[in-house]
Amino acid sequence: MNAPLASLYPAHLAALRTRADRALELGGFDHLLIAAGTPPGKFLDDQDYPFVANPHFKHWLPLTDAPGSWIAYTPGMKPKLVFVQPRDYWHVAPQTPHGYWVEHFDIATVRSAGEAVAQLPKGRNAVIATACPAIDGVTINNPQPVLDYLHWHRSYKTPYELALMREASRIGARAHRAAEAAFRAGESEFGIHLAYLAAARQIDAELPYASIVGLNEHGAVLHYMHFDRTPPAEHRSFLIDAGASCAGYASDITRTYAAAGHGGFQALIDSMDAAQQSFAAKVRPGQSYPELHLHAHHAIADVLREHGFIRMSAGSAVESGVTSAFFPHGLGHSIGLQVHDVAGFQQDERGGNIPRPDGHPYLRMTRTLEPGMVVTIEPGLYFIDMLLAELRDKPVAADIDWATVDAFRPYGGIRIEDDVACTDGAPENLTRDAFARPD
Ligand code: GLY
Ligand code: MN
Ligand code: MN
Repeated sequence: MNAPLASLYPAHLAALRTRADRALELGGFDHLLIAAGTPPGKFLDDQDYPFVANPHFKHWLPLTDAPGSWIAYTPGMKPKLVFVQPRDYWHVAPQTPHGYWVEHFDIATVRSAGEAVAQLPKGRNAVIATACPAIDGVTINNPQPVLDYLHWHRSYKTPYELALMREASRIGARAHRAAEAAFRAGESEFGIHLAYLAAARQIDAELPYASIVGLNEHGAVLHYMHFDRTPPAEHRSFLIDAGASCAGYASDITRTYAAAGHGGFQALIDSMDAAQQSFAAKVRPGQSYPELHLHAHHAIADVLREHGFIRMSAGSAVESGVTSAFFPHGLGHSIGLQVHDVAGFQQDERGGNIPRPDGHPYLRMTRTLEPGMVVTIEPGLYFIDMLLAELRDKPVAADIDWATVDAFRPYGGIRIEDDVACTDGAPENLTRDAFARPD
C-alpha cells in the first residue's frame, strides 16, 4: 500500500535538489533551467503533434500538460515554476497548478512561452531543453556532465517515484484484463485496443508508448502496430504489449494468451512464464543485467528442447545463434519517466559506456542492479519467418525439428513482460502485484 503522495513528495524533491546541487557544481553552473518543451508542429500545417513533456521536467513535478513552462532551480533557493497559462479561447488552457507539490515551488504564471523566458534567472545556466521556436532567446546547452550526473541518479527511484510506478502498473493491469476479455470475446485487434484504452481511461497520446496488439501470426512482428479492423477467421493466440502512464511515469507490460483448445501453445506459454518469473526473481543487488540476459538465452534453450523444437544442448543452441533466432531482442531495460529510461549503459555518474555482450546488439541494459532500480524482464520466443529462413541455411538446421516449428508459426510468438524493482531484499514485481489486486 502506498503512503500518500503528499507525504512522499518532500523527500523526493529534496533528493532532486541535492542531485541538482552536485550536478551544477560539477558543470560549473549557477542555475538549472529545465524547459517542459512545446509540441512539434506538423510540416506545412497548423496542427501540432501531441505534447510530451521533457522527462527532466516531469521528474520535479507531476505536470505533464504544461507546454512552454520552465523549472528554474538555484542551489539554496526554493525551486521556481514559470507556468504558462495562455489566454486562449481556441484550446483548453493548462489547469492552474494544484495539489501536494504546489507549496514547494514559487510559481509565476505567465501568458506565453515568450513571457516565460523573461522570468528565468540570468547567469551561468545549465539549460536542459530540446530546441523549439518558442524558447528563442535562451541558449540551450544540455551540458554533458550535468546530464550524465542526473541521468545516472535517475536510475534510483525514490519512494515517491515507486508509488507512481505502482499506480501506472495498476492502471495497465486493469486495461490488460479488459484486453484479454475482448480477445476471448472474439474482437478484432482494433476492438481489443479500444477496450484497452477504455479500461485504462487514457487516450493513445497519453500512453507511454504505442501499444502492440497482435492476434495469431502478428505476435511474431516485434513492433506490430497495425490494428486490423476485422477479426480473423480464428482466434488462436494474442500478444499484447501495452503500458499506462501515471503523472509522467510509465508501465510496460506484455502478456500472451492462447485461445481455448490450443493446449500446445498454452503449454509453451506456461514454460515461458515459469522462466520469466525465475528471471524476475534474480532482480537483486549485485546481479549483472547482461549476465541475466545471457542466462535467459540458456533457459530459453531449455524451453526449446523441452517442447521438441531443438535437439542440441542449451550451450550449443546459444553459441550457434539458435536461441537468438527465437529470442532476437534484449531481456529488458530500465524504466521510469521514459519507457526506455536513460543510463542503461552508463558506467558511472560521470558518463562512460558499458558495452553490450558480443552478439547481443539489442540489449538495452548493461548495468549491475542496485536497490532503487526498476527494470523490465521481458523474455520472448517467436516464430519469425525471416529469422527462421536464415536458420534453415545453417548447418545447425539439422538439429531443429522443423515440423514442430511449422506447427507453431500460426501462433506468432510469446513475450511476457513485467516491471520489477530491485530492493535491498526480495524483488518487488510491480506488474504481478498489480494483476494480483482486484480492480
Ligand atoms: N514496449 C516496449 C518495450 O517492451 O520495450
Ligand atoms: Mn519493455
Ligand atoms: Mn513492452
